[in-house]
Amino acid sequence: MKINIYNNKQEIGNAVASVIAGKVLTKTNCILGLATGSTPIPTYNSLIELYKNGVVDFSGVRTFNLDEYYGIGSMHEQSYYKFMYDNLFSKINIDLKNTKIPSSQPKNLEQECIDYDESIEKAGGIDLQILGIGHNGHIAFNEPSDVFTYGTHIVDLTEDTIQANKRFFNSIDEVPKKAITMGIGTILKAREIIIIATGKDKANAIKAMLSKNIDPKCPASILNAHTNVTVFLDKEAASLI
Ligand code: PGA
Repeated sequence: MKINIYNNKQEIGNAVASVIAGKVLTKTNCILGLATGSTPIPTYNSLIELYKNGVVDFSGVRTFNLDEYYGIGSMHEQSYYKFMYDNLFSKINIDLKNTKIPSSQPKNLEQECIDYDESIEKAGGIDLQILGIGHNGHIAFNEPSDVFTYGTHIVDLTEDTIQANKRFFNSIDEVPKKAITMGIGTILKAREIIIIATGKDKANAIKAMLSKNIDPKCPASILNAHTNVTVFLDKEAASLI
């Protein structure tokens, strides 16, 4: 894995946005895998600026998001559908029909998971996947476990993740306890992966990921098996490596 260390989040945002813009410029119909959470916001802000300045055109781009809370509905204030609309899609010229996020309330859960993986395959596979990392080493909502789960699936969120997510909700009772997430195999099929971590609270997870022992107890460690991963860290997230 290549590791790039920056002074702060905004520098990372600018750098990652430049990589994404470069991908879109060289392949106008590229497929991007996108993430939610606090980490990619500077990247999305920088991409919006690049779009406004006429540098990048998203009209041919298709996107697949990593995950969605199960059961809350896509119009919920904290759904990842809403997050993506508010933080990126409504501010660039992407066709909303080309943006895919797992359904929060699928009629048939099992079929939704199968269809999600199939639609990524049919689109030609993800060219560039953006990832954050959880304090517990999760990527997307692949939580620490005894085994890796390969396809898109429903997951019980761990207490650690529920606690981390509660900052977005009025009370802990409102935080969803389940999510639909791309699996480890879905993520590894991406041709190129960028994983971003900022802040001291991510330093332990980054240290575990880079330990080179691939272990489902640190789901991000599987990225050591991929040949095209770049890690973007600020100094605090890099402080234990
Ligand atoms: P965060 O979440 O960007 O809000 O820290 C990252 C993650 O849990 O994957």
